[in-house]
Order: sequence, then C-alpha cells, then structure tokens
Amino acid sequence: MRPTATNALEARVGTQLAEFREQAIYKRLNYLEGPQAPRVRMEGRGEIIILSSNNYLGLCAEPEIIAAGKEALDRYGAGTASVRFICGTFTIHRELEAALARLVGTEASLSFGSCWNANEALPVTLLNEHDLVLSDQLNHASIIDAIRLAKAITKCQTGVFEHKNLQDLDTRLAAAKDRQVKLVISDGVFSMEGAIADLPGLLEVCRKHGALLVVDDSHATGVLGPTGRGTAEHFGMLGEVDIVTSTLGKALGGAAGGFVAGSEALCDYLTQRSRPQLFSNALPCTVAGSAMASVHYLEAHPERVARLRDNARYFRRQLAELGFKPLAGETPIIPVIVGETSAAIRMSELLLEEGVFVTGFGYPVVPQGTARLRCQISAAHSRQDLDEALTAFSRVGRKLGVVS
Ligand SMILES: Cc1ncc(COP(=O)(O)O)c(C=O)c1O
Repeated sequence: MRPTATNALEARVGTQLAEFREQAIYKRLNYLEGPQAPRVRMEGRGEIIILSSNNYLGLCAEPEIIAAGKEALDRYGAGTASVRFICGTFTIHRELEAALARLVGTEASLSFGSCWNANEALPVTLLNEHDLVLSDQLNHASIIDAIRLAKAITKCQTGVFEHKNLQDLDTRLAAAKDRQVKLVISDGVFSMEGAIADLPGLLEVCRKHGALLVVDDSHATGVLGPTGRGTAEHFGMLGEVDIVTSTLGKALGGAAGGFVAGSEALCDYLTQRSRPQLFSNALPCTVAGSAMASVHYLEAHPERVARLRDNARYFRRQLAELGFKPLAGETPIIPVIVGETSAAIRMSELLLEEGVFVTGFGYPVVPQGTARLRCQISAAHSRQDLDEALTAFSRVGRKLGVVS
C-alpha cells in the first residue's frame, strides 16, 4: 500500500490530466528524428515542414555552428563540473560574453544556463524593499515569475502596465516618486503577437522618471535590425538600453543558454550575488562554442537577416491573399487568428496531417476568441517550403470554413 500523501497527489494529477484531455488542451509531444531545419522527419509522420520553431536564422543545423560545438566539446570536455565561482568558468565563457556584449551594444554580458535563469536572476538580485519593478502586461512568463520571486523575497513594489501603453507606464512611474530604484521590463518582441516594443517611447518615459529599462530580446536577437543586433538596432538606438537579456536558444544556434548584458558593474554584481550563478552549473562549453560561432556567423552574414525579413514578408502577404487574417507586423512571428481554441487546435492537427507543423494557441494563453496558429518563419525556409505550407493552409482553411 502506498502512503496516503502519494495517493492524494497521484489522484490530483490524474484528475487534472484527464481534464486537460477532455478540454482538448493536453499537449502531445511530437518527436523529431533529425536536427531542427525547415524540413525534418517526425516520428510516425515522415518528412514535415516546421513552421513553429525559433530557429530564425537556420543556425541549428549550420555545419559551422555544429563544428564549433564539437570543437569546444573536444577542447573543454563534456561538463563544467560545478558552478562558476568554484570551478566552472572556462576561457570560452569569457570570449562568448565579450562577443555577446559587442553584439547587443553593452559594456559587458554574463551568460546563464537559460534566459529563464537570466530573467529570474535580475529583479530579485538587484532590488530591495525601497524599489519598484513594472512589467508590460504581455511579457514572457519568465519575467512574470521573476517579478513574483522578487516581490516575495525582497518586498519590492511591483506593478503591471497595459501592453505597450506608455501613458499607463508614465502614470505608474509618476506615482512612484518615493521609490529608490525603478526598473521597467519589456519584451523586445512579444512572442504571441510578434509585436515590437516601442523602444523610443519606453526610453523617453523611463528617462523622464529616472527609471532603468530592461529589454528581453529573446525573439529579437538575430532577428531585428539590419544586422540582427536586436530591438535597439531596429530603432537606431544601439547602446541606449540599460539592460538587455536574451536567449542563445532561438536565433543564436538554438541550443540553450541566455545572458544579461549591461554595465561591467552590473554583470560583476550578478556574478557575485545572483543565485542561478552561485548555485547552478555554468553553460556547457559545447553550447558556449556553438553560440559564439553563431555570433560570428551573424556578424559575417547580414544577408541571413535580410532573407529572414523577406521570407516573413512574403509569407504574411501570401496568407492574407489566401483570405487568412495574419496579425500585421514586421517580425517572423506571424499569428493567424482563427477565433475559438478548438478551431486552432483542429487546424493545427489538420495541418500536421498535411505535413506542416504549426502550433495552435488558445485561451488562456491568448485572450478568449483570439485563438491562433503561430507561424514562425526562418531564413532557412526556401520559397518551395513556404509555398507548400501555404497550399496546406489554403486546403485546411477551406475545409474548416476559416477561408472561402
Ligand atoms: C521573451 C522570452 N524570454 C525568455 C525566454 C526563455 O528563454 P530560454 O529558453 O533561454 O530559457 C523565452 C523563451 O520562450 C522568451 O520567449
């Protein structure tokens, strides 16, 4: 007989899993048999076109990037074997951090095991009970949780401003004159909408109130700006954002890892005090090697960024011509609004049957009635890949009555 506590927990998760299935929100994992690429073999399905990955520049399968990872594996070994300050810092970490700082236009950077960790480290390490942190309503879950953690531990004041509403941000900062440090956090590109933050507006409001701006560029690094240096480059404001966080797990090779970029002092302080640095292993060297090769690749190949932009523009325009309603925008995140959650899930299933993998998102991840398929375009998609995907969209859309 198993202990009662275990039975109670198993009963609870069992009931909830059954509910997820009933409500058609159960997430089924699809297994890939090869590297992330525009076309990949999916177990049980054969070759499919991937239209829902963060492999924006196609670097996951780029031979140069893979070779750099293998080289680092050979040179530095399989593991870091401890947290950084004990024995886990390698010269490749220092080189990567210098390359990342150069890329995003800051004095320094500090790598973490993920951008989730990087975001989580920031407010709780930097703030205290005299401070305030404000977050855009649609910021990534890692920022939301980071702020919850900071509030619970440091007793700092927290708040959420309406999505991209500068007036609301201004009002909230004006009401916080007594706060010593004011931190404002915004995604650079919002992952469910593909919308770009109004960086000039955010900076103006922050400067007016003496607040610091943190931009999470996870969906913008390698994507926005003429050479892929992110939201700041997109607006011609490189070097003006106080703190940038980003991931190495999307455009920059897509493996894992994240970083905080800012002043030398900020990165040094996080090295001294942030708990994911002090109590979690450093980024594996093989990942650091691939990520550094990705930064060099990006610097040498701005045409990849231009191709990504062209592909996204083409796909968005063609979808609209087929009668779909893609959200307007400039990023390779192209949400196609279909209405009800069940419609999005059904459409995603039918597209997969047609050989196109694109995930459906519904309530509560997005507002009621705005369920969507979130297409993500890569520079590695050929016109043929995109055209085949469009044909599948057209067939499935007509079948479901989403388009005529
Ligand atoms: C805006 C944003 N921030 C942070 C993260 C987390 O990145 P990582 O996978 O490196 O933890 C993501 C990933 O989905 C993201 O979209």
